[in-house]
Amino acid sequence: MDGAAELVFCVNGRKVIEKNVDPETMLLPYLRKKLQLTGTKYGCGGGGCGACTVMISRYNPITKRIRHYPANACLLPICSLHGAAVTTVEGVGSTKARIHPVQERIAKCHGTQCGFCTPGMVMSIYTLLRNHPEPTLDQLTDALGGRLYVCVCFSKDDDDEEEFLPLDPTQELIFPPELMIMAEKQPQRTRVFVGDRMTWISPVTLKELLEAKVKYPQAPIVMGNTSVGMWNSGGAFHPVIISPECIEELSVVNHADDGLTLGAGLSLAQVKEILKTQTYHALLKHLGTLAGCQIRNMASLGGHIVSRHLDSDLNPLLAVGNCTLNLLSKEGERQIPLNEQFLTKCPSADLKPGEILVSVNIPYSRKWEFVSAFRQAQRQQNALAIVNSGMRVFFGEGGGIIRELSIAYGGVGPTTICAKNSCQKLIGRPWNEEMLDAACRLILDEVSLPGWAPGGKVEFKRTLLISFFFKFYLKVSQILKTMDPVRYPGLADKYESALEDLHSRNHWGTSKYQDVDPKQLPQDPIGRPIMHLSGIKHTTGEAIYCDDMPVLDGELFLAFVTSSRAHAEIVSIDLSEALSLPGVVDIVTEEDLRGVNSFGLFGEPEKLLETQEVSCVGQLVCAVVADSEVQAKRAAKRVKIVYQDLEPVILTIEEAIRHHSFFQGERKLEYGNVDEAFKVVDQILEGEIHMGGQEHFYMETQSMLAVPKGEDQEMDVYVSSQFPKYIQVTWVAATLKVPANKIMCHVKRVGGAFGGKVTKTGIMAAITPSPVGVTCPSHGCPVRCILERGEDMLITGGRHPYLGKYKAGFMNDGRILALDVEHYCNGGSTLDESLFVIEIGLLKVDNAYKFPNLRFRGWACRTNLPSNTALRGFGFPQSGLITENCITEVAAKCGLSPEKVRMMNMYKEIDQTPYKQEIDATNLIQCWKECMATSSYSLRKVAVEKFNSENYWKKKGLAMVPLKFPVGVLSTAAAQAAALVHIYLDGSVLVTHGGIEMGQGVHTKMIQVASRELRMPMSNVHLRGTSTETVPNANVSGGSLVADLNGLAVKDACQTLLKRLEPIISKNPKGTWKDWAQAAFDESISLSATGYFRGYESHMNWETGEGHPFEYFVFGAACSEVEIDCLTGAHKNIRTDIVMDIGHSINPALDVGQIEGAFIQGMGLYTIEELKYSPQGVLYTRGPDQYKIPAVSDVPTELHVSFLPPSQNSNTLYSSKGLGEPGVFLGCSVFFAIHDAVRAARQERGLLGPLKLDSPLTPEKIRMACEDKFTKMIPRDEPGSYVPWNIPV
Ligand SMILES: Cc1cc2nc3c(=O)[nH]c(=O)nc-3n(C[C@H](O)[C@H](O)[C@H](O)COP(=O)(O)OP(=O)(O)OC[C@H]3O[C@@H](n4cnc5c(N)ncnc54)[C@H](O)[C@@H]3O)c2cc1C
Ligand code: FES
Repeated sequence: MDGAAELVFCVNGRKVIEKNVDPETMLLPYLRKKLQLTGTKYGCGGGGCGACTVMISRYNPITKRIRHYPANACLLPICSLHGAAVTTVEGVGSTKARIHPVQERIAKCHGTQCGFCTPGMVMSIYTLLRNHPEPTLDQLTDALGGRLYVCVCFSKDDDDEEEFLPLDPTQELIFPPELMIMAEKQPQRTRVFVGDRMTWISPVTLKELLEAKVKYPQAPIVMGNTSVGMWNSGGAFHPVIISPECIEELSVVNHADDGLTLGAGLSLAQVKEILKTQTYHALLKHLGTLAGCQIRNMASLGGHIVSRHLDSDLNPLLAVGNCTLNLLSKEGERQIPLNEQFLTKCPSADLKPGEILVSVNIPYSRKWEFVSAFRQAQRQQNALAIVNSGMRVFFGEGGGIIRELSIAYGGVGPTTICAKNSCQKLIGRPWNEEMLDAACRLILDEVSLPGWAPGGKVEFKRTLLISFFFKFYLKVSQILKTMDPVRYPGLADKYESALEDLHSRNHWGTSKYQDVDPKQLPQDPIGRPIMHLSGIKHTTGEAIYCDDMPVLDGELFLAFVTSSRAHAEIVSIDLSEALSLPGVVDIVTEEDLRGVNSFGLFGEPEKLLETQEVSCVGQLVCAVVADSEVQAKRAAKRVKIVYQDLEPVILTIEEAIRHHSFFQGERKLEYGNVDEAFKVVDQILEGEIHMGGQEHFYMETQSMLAVPKGEDQEMDVYVSSQFPKYIQVTWVAATLKVPANKIMCHVKRVGGAFGGKVTKTGIMAAITPSPVGVTCPSHGCPVRCILERGEDMLITGGRHPYLGKYKAGFMNDGRILALDVEHYCNGGSTLDESLFVIEIGLLKVDNAYKFPNLRFRGWACRTNLPSNTALRGFGFPQSGLITENCITEVAAKCGLSPEKVRMMNMYKEIDQTPYKQEIDATNLIQCWKECMATSSYSLRKVAVEKFNSENYWKKKGLAMVPLKFPVGVLSTAAAQAAALVHIYLDGSVLVTHGGIEMGQGVHTKMIQVASRELRMPMSNVHLRGTSTETVPNANVSGGSLVADLNGLAVKDACQTLLKRLEPIISKNPKGTWKDWAQAAFDESISLSATGYFRGYESHMNWETGEGHPFEYFVFGAACSEVEIDCLTGAHKNIRTDIVMDIGHSINPALDVGQIEGAFIQGMGLYTIEELKYSPQGVLYTRGPDQYKIPAVSDVPTELHVSFLPPSQNSNTLYSSKGLGEPGVFLGCSVFFAIHDAVRAARQERGLLGPLKLDSPLTPEKIRMACEDKFTKMIPRDEPGSYVPWNIPV
């Protein structure tokens, strides 16, 4: 072995030599901190989000070929990179050198918003193009299908290829010849890298690998590190790692007469390529959806098999397929079957210490032998299966009698489970309905799942066990029929739908912009689809986010310690062990914040750090400060807290109602006379709907950096926040007890926020600078705090879960005359904005409908969960869903389509809202009609009904919802905005305003405004970011109003300047801005102006229930069509048409992006995003592996967005409307389309009663609502007889 080896690899063509590498170092922090290549982002640290995608290239000296593949830098130990070339986004292209066509196209096609995940997208596509310069659509879908879809909008108004740079493969970085020579020439010897805690051994021959394994039998063999690498997120730590490199025998591919032998070191992506030509359909099916493209390229076949994860997709299939494992040790070779004993790690059937897996034999299937794969996950792609299965049957020559049967399941036990006994009992039986029935009963008996089983969804899992078997039964019956139609009659046509894949076609979409007035000057950019100002920088990775700022001299890192109990007294906190660790500088406790620890937010007392009584898991208790992130986080885990649990622990809304645990009293709004109206209606219905919360899932986690300036207690605070003034005044200045004029808060841009970067960010930003003076009291030292994804999700809360109860009085024709609604939101442990959310929900409860008599009451529940807060839409997505659900039920009672009842009850012309504000609903009706027409609603409704009558196991649903989204913030002061515009003597202009760029493109729009007002090209105007130094006291950026309000302030400043300069310009009309600026200077005319907008006149009197809280209404409508699989609960979004009234769009490209992004976020909210809490109040879903937001493959196959023609809106900026939030609600058209499909399934099964479906409408809820003989067959647990794994809150 070669002791203390040198690690050599290349990054973007530059050679990197590491002499004393620490094997614990992952490529991501190495790139970001050591090489300062910050284009590669941290989003989750667990391989789940793709923000850290890089391209790895390796040269194989035997085949002489170079393999390029995408990989997640967060899971790549740098020690595994010896001899590899790493390409990051900086190596692909930059504004300083040349941008790459991929970067250019994504930017110019408006494919970026906040831009945080964009470099990862670029790298995925770039790698695809390196391998396939002209990729097919399938290859593109494969490369991007599992990528998280937070907000991206790819569209281009005209498809002029000429506009783009051509792709020229000769311009790409070549594989470094030095590495090639190294691979060819260097004597291959085992390399050893020794760190403080870990030793990394890289054997290069099979012999050396075995020697290492003998020496360190407990050491894992790391191939892709996608399983072992999880030690960072709570997995086991390994002091020794063995990582084989380029060992030929592990990459073997052997075709024999009876099967295929595949090397254990082949990546899953390579296996997929090999199997493509071998038609192993079942394996291929799973390899298409297993994880994302990066993980499939990193993860090895051997690592997958040996890990034996409970939800492994391949092991059930390999097990039923009679695969064998070829093992090798010092003692020699042997073969073991990949069977149940191996999977359950039975010692006699497992690898022995010192033994390695060399390859896997996968037999071909025989005649009359059939193998199938099944899986159901929360999301179609890149989501671990809830249940998966491999099934195989062998009949022998003719006869249709079962000779062999194997069934294995994943997701239902600690590892893959085989239904061995059931299979045994079915041998000898004919393949018919009786066998099916017996098989289902046997399987349910054998694969029993207790009510408390980890992962929850127990009844769903039980149902899937037999639904999958039923699918297998049908599939085999169908094949038997094709093989011998005389003997096997096969299936009725309408049952065949069970076997088809859900609607799958390539995605496409259209966006119809408004035309600008032909009379508008060509250089005037207002109304034109201008690319996001930072678009190119997003794609090149040059856009700087908070944690991209270089590490400063003496910088410290702060890591929070949080409560692990939902409600408990803190008996003691022992800091000694944490303090004794190297690098630890201090631990901030309540003591250090004496006098400033308590504060009152929205009138409720709260604490920054809690050291007496904690009221939720994730509450901040103290904070460790160390000289590095690693040390701070390590030490935070060593703080020992002793708790004494307290009662009650209130987690759910129902528990809060039982305990009368509310924040303040009820909020109420009443219109007309509800009680009287109930007396005259034809029918009354009462119902309720529960709606789960939502995680913000901004891509950039909470980030802050406090930098003391060294004199006069001045400090700069850089924060990823929507509200700099709040950080500056309310938090940092108040906590440090210095005037606000000493503290300046700067925000360049934010990697997504959605409402989650206001209150909690403020609290954390208040604590972060507190240790500034600790190590260096005279000058202070900078302190950085960046949350990991898991702690971010745990601490920061999200959208409020809701319970809506309603009583509706209506006539038989569908007219609703009275509505009595109660809303309860789960506010969590502190008030935060919960009451405000309830109030907004209350003011928007009518959505698009005129309810002549309405009573609305709302309560914010105080529970022992992390505090919930603002999230895009702010109460409306919940409130609107409750109303629409009520309408859907009314329609069902009246025997009418929900769309008919919606239209009947809609505001029609000029009318009054429940709070007596005037509303002109002309454009609402226009949107509705236009959406009906563009979506061909009526024709498609007929087609859906026809489809449903012909297909028993698949159903389609179609639904259309209207939108009336009132825009405003209820108070004039909260809508004031300011701007500062400077003209410099060279004629260039600098604009500053109070709004935060969080992806919505506000800075781009502000430059458009300045360009129009000053009549100068956009290229002459610059915007550096937001700062309390240039625009003080700015309001929070949120509520769809950022561009509206700040735009009016920028406009004001520009007009002031222009007015001052007009005499100069008129004297020299042909002059340049440089001439005019100089002339103004010479005449002592100020070239700087502030602009101000005092806010929309708005007010609301809660006593009288009257007011004018909003400035205007955004109208819209969305029609969605889905297809569901009644047996698995899967659904596919087939098509969505959206029509919006947006007034005069300032920038239609950005506006379409906002509408699409919001719609997709809403779709996730209503259909797949599911927060799971333990009965003890611990949030389980703390990363993209457990919490599923929509991925690219979830976008409707067809997505069409169009605007109404421009309409005048006198008070707003150029008659534009704010669009950040409204589209979220339109996601519920997908919810109601699924609802429609489920209702069709139930009707066919004779279930005509009421249908109660809660949100999110997940595969579990869809499947369980499509009741059939299988759902009836499963055992049900007595409620209360067990403690469930999770509880709905
Ligand atoms: C984000 C993400 C998403 C995922 N999604 C899915 C999914 O949808 N479906 C699914 O099925 N799986 C999924 N996985 C799991 C993934 O398939 C496994 O982590 C992967 O296959 C493990 O392979 P590896 O090479 O990375 O293993 P490593 O982490 O390198 O090693 C894993 C284990 O295998 C042992 N080992 C490896 N090779 C050998 C050998 N030759 N001989 C003896 N022992 C060996 C090691 O000692 C170690 O204990 C996902 C993982 C991640 C991180
Ligand atoms: S940070 Fe690596 S995948 Fe999310």
